[in-house]
Order: sequence, then C-alpha cells, then structure tokens
Amino acid sequence: MKNRVVVGSHWGDEGKAKVVDYLTSEADVVVRFQGGANAGHTVEVGNDKFIFHLIPSGIMHPNKICVIGNGVVLDPVQILKEIAEVEAKGIVVQGRLLISDSAQVVLPYHRFYDTAKENKAGNKAIGTTGRGIGPTYADKVARRGVRVGQLTQPAVFEERCRELHGIYQQWFEALGQPLQISCDQVVEEFLEYGKNLAPYLVDTAEWMDKTVRAGKKIIFEGAQGTILDLDHGTHPYVTSSNTVAAAACIGSGVGPRVIEEVIGVVKAYTTRVGNGPFPTELLDATGEKLRAKGFEFGATTGRPRRCGWFDGVVLRKAVAVNGLTHLAITKLDVLDEFSHVKLCVGYQIGDKVVDFFPSDVNAIQNAKPIYKEFPGWNTSTVEMREWEQLPENAKKFLNAISEWVNVPIGLVSVGPKRHQVIRVTL
Ligand code: GDP
Ligand code: IMO
Ligand code: MG
Repeated sequence: MKNRVVVGSHWGDEGKAKVVDYLTSEADVVVRFQGGANAGHTVEVGNDKFIFHLIPSGIMHPNKICVIGNGVVLDPVQILKEIAEVEAKGIVVQGRLLISDSAQVVLPYHRFYDTAKENKAGNKAIGTTGRGIGPTYADKVARRGVRVGQLTQPAVFEERCRELHGIYQQWFEALGQPLQISCDQVVEEFLEYGKNLAPYLVDTAEWMDKTVRAGKKIIFEGAQGTILDLDHGTHPYVTSSNTVAAAACIGSGVGPRVIEEVIGVVKAYTTRVGNGPFPTELLDATGEKLRAKGFEFGATTGRPRRCGWFDGVVLRKAVAVNGLTHLAITKLDVLDEFSHVKLCVGYQIGDKVVDFFPSDVNAIQNAKPIYKEFPGWNTSTVEMREWEQLPENAKKFLNAISEWVNVPIGLVSVGPKRHQVIRVTL
C-alpha cells in the first residue's frame, strides 16, 4: 500500500470513516491530523456501529496503531468518553492509541464561547457544532492556548488557565452572560484528565519520523471537507482548520514527500450541515427523498443535512486544492430508486458561467446550477461487489463524474457496512 490521505471533497460527511475503515486492513497506522470533536465519523462492522469524533476510524482493526496528531483540537472529556465506549466493546485501546502532546486542548471556555457567540449572531450564525472548535484554534493562533502535554504540568497549566480565564471573563461580560465556571474548578478537573491521558501522550512528530523510516504504511484521515476549509472554503461559513490534504503534513509532523496518494471521498450526491451557500441544494421533494434514503442527519449534532445533486463545480476545486489521485464515491445505493440523477457542471452567476468553485462567497450565493441529466437505474446496487455488475446507467453516471475532473475512481461504496465496496482502481 502507498501512504494515503483520505479527505472529504464536498462539505463533510462524505463517508470518509467508512473508506478509512475499509482501507485500514492494508495499513499499519491511521492518523487524524486536524479538526476535533466536530467530526462525526461512522463505522459499521457486522452489527456494531460506532461514531468516532476523535479516535481515528482504524481502531476497529486489532493491531493497527491510531494517532491523534498535533493539528487536532482535543476535548479531554470527549476523548476519555470515547476510549471508555470503545473499550466497553472489548477493543483494546491502550498501547494502540497515541495522542500528540502538542495537540491543543478544548477547554470549557471554548465550548461555552462557541455556543454563546452563535446564539448572539442570530441569522448570521455559522451553524457550528458547538464543540468549541473555532475558539480553541483562535487561542492556538493567538499563542495563548494550552497543549495536551501541559495538562501533566500543574504549574504551567494553572498559569495558562488563569490567563485564559481572565480573557474569557471579559468576553462573556461583553456578551452579557457572566462565566458560570471558576478557574479553580477548571484547573482541578483538567489536571485530573491530564493524569488519565498521560499514558497516551507522545511526541508524535518523532514517532511518525521513526514510523515512516521503518517503511510502515500510513493512512491520514481527514475530517470535515474541502469547502469547509479555512482558506479554500466558503469563509466565514467554514470550520477553523485546514481540511485539505496538505494539512496532513502539518497536523502530523511529516513532510510532503511522505504522501503518495490522495483519495477524495464524495457521495453520489451532495450534502451540507450548517449555514452558508450551497448552489445545488434541493428544497423540494427530491431533496427530502435524498435525506430520507441517505439517512442524512448529522452524526455529531443530529441536525438534518441539507441535500442536493452532485456538485461537480465543487469537485473541480477539490481535485485542484487537494491534488486528488483517486475518487471514492460513496452512497451510490441511495440513488438506486431515482428516475433520473444530475451532475452540476457549471454555475450561472449573472451573465457569466463558471465551472470552478469561485472564491467569492457572495457570487456563490447567487449561483444557479447548470446540470447534465442522466437516466436512473432502478436496480438495487447494495449486493454488488464488482464494477461489471453495476447497471449501465450507474456506470455512465460514475464515469461522467470521473471524466469531468479527469481523476480515476478508486472505489465505489454501495452501503454503510465495511464489505459494501466495489474496488475499481485502488
Ligand atoms: P464522515 O464524516 O465523512 O466519516 O461521514 P459520516 O459518518 O458523518 O456520514 C456518512 C454516513 O453514511 C454514515 O451514516 C455512514 O454509515 C453512511 N454510509 C457510508 N457509506 C455509505 C454507502 O455507501 N451507502 C449508504 N447507504 N450509507 C453509507
Ligand atoms: P465530518 O468530519 C459536516 C460544519 C458545521 C458548520 C461549520 C463550522 O464528520 O465530515 P465548527 O463546529 O467546525 O466550528 O462548525 O462546519 N462542520 C461539519 N459539517 N461534517 C463535519 O465533520 C463537520 N464539522 C464541522 O456544521 O457548518
Ligand atoms: Mg461526519
């Protein structure tokens, strides 16, 4: 196997975890490199279903090592809960999960402030997951955040916590909502978490270096999606980290030459959770049908996902900014009972037609999608395991997506379970 980055190519929830879990049998190590517990990554194996928020999706495979890199923002409460849940299923975590001592800590201030700001923003809200992601990354960039390793250094942590407490106290007062938590409480609680997390902490940059030199095979598991990227997405309706493939290097401490393949995951249609422009969104019965058949409800917040036809304009940008070498097209089965399906190949914006996702959010707000329509296949694909078995109309639709961006299809997913995969060129 080559070292692979798996990223979302639309707005998140493309089925990255399903693809990562499927490919993990060929790898030695799975690494999360950005985002935090805003991610909801669903893995279904046999009768078990797990939604991972922080633990990499490879943990279900015994003997594989899972790494949470320095680029992640780690909520200690959430990770300890998740470890306990996985262990309760008889899966060994200790010795198989490594957490970077340089990852930033999500503190209660961050979670409360995320929610308080969203509530205050009214119709300008971003629609965040409320997991404290934006404020934690903001404190990292402002060089006042706390690193996970500092939870095991009481004096250092207390000093940093006092500084943050003072800052957030002022901000909450400005919002007219005094802080409900004392600094002493946070210090006491989080030093306890530090003790519980200590066995998992390592300098992951050094560990990754040794692992790469030993020729171990690595999957880098992206969270969110390309158009939620802080630089390349629909800013400000984005998350607060870089979600594109290059972030795998920074967020885990490896150089770009380590990466050999970049797999862009996309559904056979498009969804988005939260606010912001979404040109192919369907606010009609077809959108409802996609939501119902695809069970499109957020894995983290349970919110209904906005649904629409496949956005090829977004995919062109995803191919460019990630350097995609393969597509993994998921949820083909969700389209099994549609009389026709559509691929968006351009936006009409005023008197212009564009086929590359524009950087200007206002332009995207006013974009009218231009579609190519394809006949449906009215055949269940859930039991199919070979490309040749797929209905001709399904192959035509998939090939049209691949040809539109000139990127080969690596695999097609036809159901949520691990084995429901059609291997194509990967
Ligand atoms: P992620 O955030 O990209 O890992 O994706 P999520 O887990 O948030 O959402 C994907 C959802 O689709 C999950 O409920 C998966 O179990 C499910 N899923 C993944 N692949 C397929 C597929 O090929 N067909 C169907 N029907 N469901 C799928
Ligand atoms: P996975 O990894 C889909 C969205 C939120 C909101 C915006 C900012 O499961 O694909 P944040 O809490 O990050 O500050 O919210 O980003 N968002 C996601 N949407 N899937 C995700 O993760 C997401 N993580 C964040 O809905 O619009
Ligand atoms: Mg998800």
